[in-house]
Amino acid sequence: MKILVIGGGGREHAIVRKLRESPKAEQIYCAPGNGGISKDAVCVDIPVTDIDGVVRFSRENKIDLVFVAPDDPLAAGMVDALEAAGIAAFGPHANAAVIESSKVFSKELMRKYGIPTADYAVFNDPGKALAYIESRGEYPVVVKADGLALGKGVIIAADHGEAQAALKSIMEDKIFGASGNQVVIEEFITGPEVSVLAFTDGKCIKPMVSSKDHKRAFDGNKGPNTGGMGTISPNPHYTDEIAEQCMRSIFLPTVQAMCREGRPFKGCLYFGLMLTKDGPKVIEYNSRFGDPETQVVLPRMKTDFVDVLQAVMEERLESQPVEWSEAACACVVMASGGYPGKYPKGLEITGLDADGQVSGATVYHAGTACKDGRFYTGGGRVLGVTAMGGTLEEALRGAYAAVEKIHFEGAQYRRDIGK
Ligand code: AMP
Ligand code: GLY
Repeated sequence: MKILVIGGGGREHAIVRKLRESPKAEQIYCAPGNGGISKDAVCVDIPVTDIDGVVRFSRENKIDLVFVAPDDPLAAGMVDALEAAGIAAFGPHANAAVIESSKVFSKELMRKYGIPTADYAVFNDPGKALAYIESRGEYPVVVKADGLALGKGVIIAADHGEAQAALKSIMEDKIFGASGNQVVIEEFITGPEVSVLAFTDGKCIKPMVSSKDHKRAFDGNKGPNTGGMGTISPNPHYTDEIAEQCMRSIFLPTVQAMCREGRPFKGCLYFGLMLTKDGPKVIEYNSRFGDPETQVVLPRMKTDFVDVLQAVMEERLESQPVEWSEAACACVVMASGGYPGKYPKGLEITGLDADGQVSGATVYHAGTACKDGRFYTGGGRVLGVTAMGGTLEEALRGAYAAVEKIHFEGAQYRRDIGK
């Protein structure tokens, strides 16, 4: 098969690498890819949001399967457009991707179908939102932009002043554009967070092994939220008992709710969960594989990835086994100095071999470019240095030993992933 992966981050590198293990994958393309991905796939210079460009390329190159990984092309209907052109695509249709692209939609879905989540109210007027926050009088309070905001649309306001500032920047200054036309004001809940990615064909759902992201920039969960600074799998908080409870109260009800709404979800559904003292609750849904969760989950998958993707697309997931390794996996993200704020680009990365790898680990490239055999930084998150081990401690030791071998000016990473 000829397979085209859409995207160009660490998640897409992990997807490309897993696809390469399948005997069915004869040729893999990635649009746009990055410096590291170019060692594993043919990179094609098409932006992820260029739906016409992707359809044209797929037709001209007789692509058998397009894997749409990022949220924005899914929300914009890339899978719908590919299918209309007779090209098989993995990922939800636009009408189902809305579970991520509109927080108002997802909260209303959960309320309607009794799926546990933080209490909330929706507003399209900043004055009314603030009046509601004042009448509740409980801080911290969570302010969320309705639409996609590069993972930055959630503000946890510690007091009235911060809530007012959050509403102003989202709804009046429109720092996330039209995504801030509506806001969700949410009750602040606490507990360990768990990420669960799941394959679903719209009827059957098969959760993958659990993982834990580390969203804050600095050690000790300090600093601003980022796209994710590191991950471990499995998540030690996620017991078999909690998994069963989630299946009963969250996973199956969500898949069934989407069907009843006439929006069957086919693809990878991501559950961002919080294990509260009242049981697991949904913090957010994503309509896609997580980044950097994918980097620790896919390496543990033993079943042929292409077989599973085809079973999802052809709605026969029920009879498709999906098996996982007992090994643990850890990913440490090396980011550019300054990330998630301003950071420099184009700095040389040393310590990598000609394929952009180091011994003892797998290096998933996120923001890199490769020129004349050398690798350079090209984004906020640069590398996801990933290792497997018999135990989590072993996996972490492997990942950190590999991190020590890699250098670029100002490299920033957390020392406490998995601790
Ligand atoms: P999200 O972008 O929706 O994943 O939110 C980013 C982060 O904000 C989450 O990983 C949580 O740590 C935090 N968060 C979101 N909603 C809540 C909430 N209702 N209560 C407490 N923390 C929250
Ligand atoms: N790691 C969180 C996300 O992919 O949204």
